[in-house]
Amino acid sequence: MGEGAAAPAAAGGLVRVPVALAERGYEVVIGPGARTVLGEVLPPGARMAAVVTQEGIGVDVEVGIEARRFTIPDGEAAKSLSTVEALCRRLAAAGLSRADVVVAVGGGVVTDVAGFAAASYLRGVAYVNVATTLLAQVDAAVGGKTGVNLPEGKNLVGAFWQPAAVLCDTEVLSSLPEREWASGRGEIAKCAFLPAEPGAAAPGTALLAATLEEQVAWCVGLKATVVAADEREGGRRMLLNYGHTLAHALEGLALAGAPVDLRHGEAVAVGLVFAAELARRLGRVDEARVEEHRQVVASLGLPAAVPPGLSAGRLVEYMQRDKKARHDLTFVLDGPRGPEPVASVAPDEVLATLAAMGCEP
Ligand SMILES: NC(=O)c1ccc[n+]([C@@H]2O[C@H](COP(=O)([O-])OP(=O)(O)OC[C@H]3O[C@@H](n4cnc5c(N)ncnc54)[C@H](O)[C@@H]3O)[C@@H](O)[C@H]2O)c1
Ligand SMILES: [Zn+2]
Repeated sequence: MGEGAAAPAAAGGLVRVPVALAERGYEVVIGPGARTVLGEVLPPGARMAAVVTQEGIGVDVEVGIEARRFTIPDGEAAKSLSTVEALCRRLAAAGLSRADVVVAVGGGVVTDVAGFAAASYLRGVAYVNVATTLLAQVDAAVGGKTGVNLPEGKNLVGAFWQPAAVLCDTEVLSSLPEREWASGRGEIAKCAFLPAEPGAAAPGTALLAATLEEQVAWCVGLKATVVAADEREGGRRMLLNYGHTLAHALEGLALAGAPVDLRHGEAVAVGLVFAAELARRLGRVDEARVEEHRQVVASLGLPAAVPPGLSAGRLVEYMQRDKKARHDLTFVLDGPRGPEPVASVAPDEVLATLAAMGCEP
């Protein structure tokens, strides 16, 4: 893999990537069978495990202590305060104590909901993520952001609460539907353009030639480095939003009923190509670099075009609402120093870039 790649420790076919946070450091264990180390990563002294999952996820975990299974509903709509309330009431009825542990077994919806329940139930109990979608393995399950949606918007209520460990078992991905694979690959495409350390080289197309385990380990290593440098999202963590400003606008329009059929990572893929086009319009990168973005996205089988029938004006409106942008048009844009946050981009440049990508005014 490219220069600047994390050098994770491999043992028994499993790769362990440390997330170095002063008192809350933990390991992400990656590879086929990673779920079998669950017993080893439970907090010492835990008597009971609350396994939180969804009916459709057929992933069994051996906890090694008394375990109760709790299911939550499927889909983004299940990421709600009412789901958290129902879950916490069931944890209370089961007698889960602060010394016990929550084990989230699922994709990002499960890890966000179970993580937030763990952050708030009894003012915080330990939790472990067993990530069962590619998107959760490369992104959602790592980093300690937990939370739920409100009718007013996505992820508006939540907490930073670090897991005791994250297990990314690549074996369990075999049952994943193709669109969920694509969604995870969108985040891998993003990671191809991000260096692990400021000034280092991003892996670029080398990431595409890596094995699935190496790809997951690279993305986790990158997120771990960024989170360790910037746990609560000020500067460096913004980089992980590369491609996301347009992606969030596309998702916002979809929620409002627009004809957008994109999973999150697919929207990110479109957003990456758009960000590269915008960076070129602003004179930050050349056409070859835009082409590299198109190539990475295409070789991962991801879309690059803005869906037809969307108005550039409405997309810009949604981008201005992006909570990370603080009402200003802020993008992570590639440039001579690699991708970096760029504030106060002129709306006209954004509109022109969207028009060049085939968007109606
Ligand atoms: N906290 C963070 O830092 C962070 C980062 C990125 C995304 N997220 C959140 O993650 C969520 C999306 O996560 P997702 O893409 O994993 O979606 P998801 O959790 O909805 O999972 C997608 C579908 O796959 C099913 N599934 C899960 N594992 C499976 C398996 N092994 N085999 C077959 N089916 C399986 C799920 O039941 C679901 O129907 C969003 O709510 C997003 O906001 C959070
Ligand atoms: Zn994302």
